[in-house]
Amino acid sequence: MGLNRSPGARARHRRAGPSNGTFRLGGTLAAVVLILAACSDGSGGSAAPGGTSGDGGDGGDAGGYPEDQITFIVPFSAGGPTDTVTRLVAEPMAAELGVEIVVQNVEGAGGTVAAEQVANEEPDGYTVLMHHIGMSTAPTLYPDLPYDPIEGFEPIGLVTEVPMTFIGSPNFEPNTFEELVTYVEENIDTVTYANAGIGAASQLCGLLFETATGLDITEVPYEGTGPALDDLLGDQVDFMCDQTTNTTENILSGAVKAYAVTTPERIEALPDVPTTEEAGVGDIGVTVWHGLYVPAGTPAEIVEALNAALKVALQDQNVIDSLADLGTAPVSQDRATPEAHAQHLSDQIELWAPIIEASGVTAG
Ligand code: MLT
Repeated sequence: MGLNRSPGARARHRRAGPSNGTFRLGGTLAAVVLILAACSDGSGGSAAPGGTSGDGGDGGDAGGYPEDQITFIVPFSAGGPTDTVTRLVAEPMAAELGVEIVVQNVEGAGGTVAAEQVANEEPDGYTVLMHHIGMSTAPTLYPDLPYDPIEGFEPIGLVTEVPMTFIGSPNFEPNTFEELVTYVEENIDTVTYANAGIGAASQLCGLLFETATGLDITEVPYEGTGPALDDLLGDQVDFMCDQTTNTTENILSGAVKAYAVTTPERIEALPDVPTTEEAGVGDIGVTVWHGLYVPAGTPAEIVEALNAALKVALQDQNVIDSLADLGTAPVSQDRATPEAHAQHLSDQIELWAPIIEASGVTAG
């Protein structure tokens, strides 16, 4: 793995805004926003605590929960892909629960700072972590990880699975994935790859790129791929691999160069972007899954209330349409459960551990 360097100067160009124009903060300045509960009658409407409404329907008595605003912790920068997914689902969840949801970005160490914070919060359902695939790679990447991803949390449910895309800055020379590999090989000392720190999906994708090509790239770490994309748009950094929720609009508008998508098949939102297999480098198969967590010891009734609200949110038409525009979809209802989430997390820890170990990459 190449030398980590400081991020370049701020971008000269801003990224295009989200297609639905809601709940997405530009840049990295605004770290907190209130998602207002959309209760038209002011009484909580259908947002009955305890999950008695909507399709979830399996909630017990949550003892009046929630009575106050809930904080969703995002482990990466505002304006990035994890932040986007969080804000999209937080809106209908707030409506369903009948309280405000505050979204707070707690960046650092590839998402592990936020996870540690939430693991140590009161298990009362008022602090919820939205994390992604990094929850499963951190135990292998961080020898001294200060929390246990399985024992330290109660999973609420999976949210989405998002393809990744290799993209290049507007003036970066290569135009195809094949050209990219050749160019990186020939300019190995100067080419830069942006990631969101060790434990980020972009770092995992870079690691898979290195394994597939045998190249040792120079990585530039950011607090999230929101700011990384800003710098890529400004030609401050050369290429990256990021979730379609962050790249699709810029690919479609031609603001960035698109090299490949990491799924086995092309995706509907980006029909002209080849798979890595088609591009000739073989399968760089990684999709970024997201899930919600509360600290271990949170009462089952609260987990059920949050899960019921999540299930409703994943059937919300605005969520479905917005995610489709960004190249993804909510997970099916049977996967948006604590049980399916727990199983997926443990499967993913098992899947990625030998791959990461073989790469020799470690944060230690
Ligand atoms: C990642 O690389 O893990 C993500 O893109 C982080 C983010 O949401 O910014």
